[in-house]
Amino acid sequence: MKIGIDRLSFFIPNLYLDMTELANHRGDDPAKYHIGIGQDQMALNRVSEDIITLGANAASRIVTEQDRELIDMVIVGTESGIDHSKASAVIIHHLLKVQPFARSFEVKEACYGGTAALHMAKEYVKNHQDRKVLVIASDMARYGLASGGEVTQGVGAVAMMVTADPRILTIEDDSTFLTEDIYDFWRPDYSEFPIVDGPLSNSTYIESFQKVWNHHKELTGLKLEDYDALSFHIPYTKMGKKALQSVLDQTDEENQTRLLERYEESIRYSRRVGNLYTGSLYLGLISLLENSQTLSSGDRIGLFSYGSGAVSEFFTGYLVEGYQEFLMTESHQEMLDARKQVTVAEYEAIFSEKLPENGESAEYTSDVPFSIYKVENDIRYYKQYTQNLAFIS
Ligand code: CAA
Repeated sequence: MKIGIDRLSFFIPNLYLDMTELANHRGDDPAKYHIGIGQDQMALNRVSEDIITLGANAASRIVTEQDRELIDMVIVGTESGIDHSKASAVIIHHLLKVQPFARSFEVKEACYGGTAALHMAKEYVKNHQDRKVLVIASDMARYGLASGGEVTQGVGAVAMMVTADPRILTIEDDSTFLTEDIYDFWRPDYSEFPIVDGPLSNSTYIESFQKVWNHHKELTGLKLEDYDALSFHIPYTKMGKKALQSVLDQTDEENQTRLLERYEESIRYSRRVGNLYTGSLYLGLISLLENSQTLSSGDRIGLFSYGSGAVSEFFTGYLVEGYQEFLMTESHQEMLDARKQVTVAEYEAIFSEKLPENGESAEYTSDVPFSIYKVENDIRYYKQYTQNLAFIS
């Protein structure tokens, strides 16, 4: 019995900043942002959105009435947790009205957490084939105003329903993984923003990819030409390309061109969103599946996940017969196109807003489906202002 991703959706806030405007404002050449780093727009959230609203909004697009009874676990991969103790998954479980006899918890290892959650889900479904696991990767990639990583910032969530006999992508048992205790990117408990060694993070990402890819090749015998596409964790869109290019000499020119073309399809959404940390690999996968005109059922996709600190993994998925019918291409593209552009001044003001702390209260209104409407006694209260359109049957 094959296990994998049955449904797949993302959610981003309805505001964005244009990277040419940011570059001009920061005194940088816009070409550095668009070409050197590879980012065109940055998704931006209001203060009444957090990883819970993003995750609930992504998941509510794929969870059906029947699913609410069949989901046994809600797992959230994140590195933007809002509480040191209580898991965001518990609140999302409540907001989505999942049946009560379920496990709900959070997984953390930088951007790798979503992949850990996905594989945990797969192992569970293997032994409980009539049940489902909801996996959510939800994050707010924030480096700070005028910081080195500012141009790579982004916000959003990806939701995946993991089932037996999935309708989109089966996931193989062929993972190779790697753990190395390094400090390339980390966020001490006291700090709102991460501490980043940019050059070290870039080189560790590439070396980690080479290690898990070469190890995978040794164990499985699969070579670059055996893959129809590779999908990468995308901290910024130039990064995955550098990793891919670092191994392309293992294949001929025709395959190099083909894999680079698929890579461009996998970064279309990320160019307009920015980094989603745990969700980035899966936003890239959605972009690849929804934008490629050449992929078809049975195709083999390689996925590379990287979490600073550092843990990485390479694994394989196969596209299922008729997978195209279960994508949400139109609604995802509508969501990207319907966003409102903000000025740099508006971005700086919105980015700097904070929820009340130390028991203070505040109330909010919103036009985003799930949002925070009140904070009181250090509790965030959520409600669904509007329905996420029912995109699925
Ligand atoms: N026109 C075109 N290109 C230009 C240019 C111009 N005018 N000016 C500069 N560039 C190019 C540079 O040549 C460079 O390209 P290469 O890397 O191909 O040489 C690129 O633009 C970036 O230039 P710099 O290296 O000078 O940029 P920077 O010092 O501002 O740092 C960064 C870039 C390291 C990515 C920084 O944005 C950062 O720290 N980002 C956050 C960390 C990160 O994303 N690391 C990735 C791996 S870690 C990970 O994957 C986990 C995670 O999600 C965070």
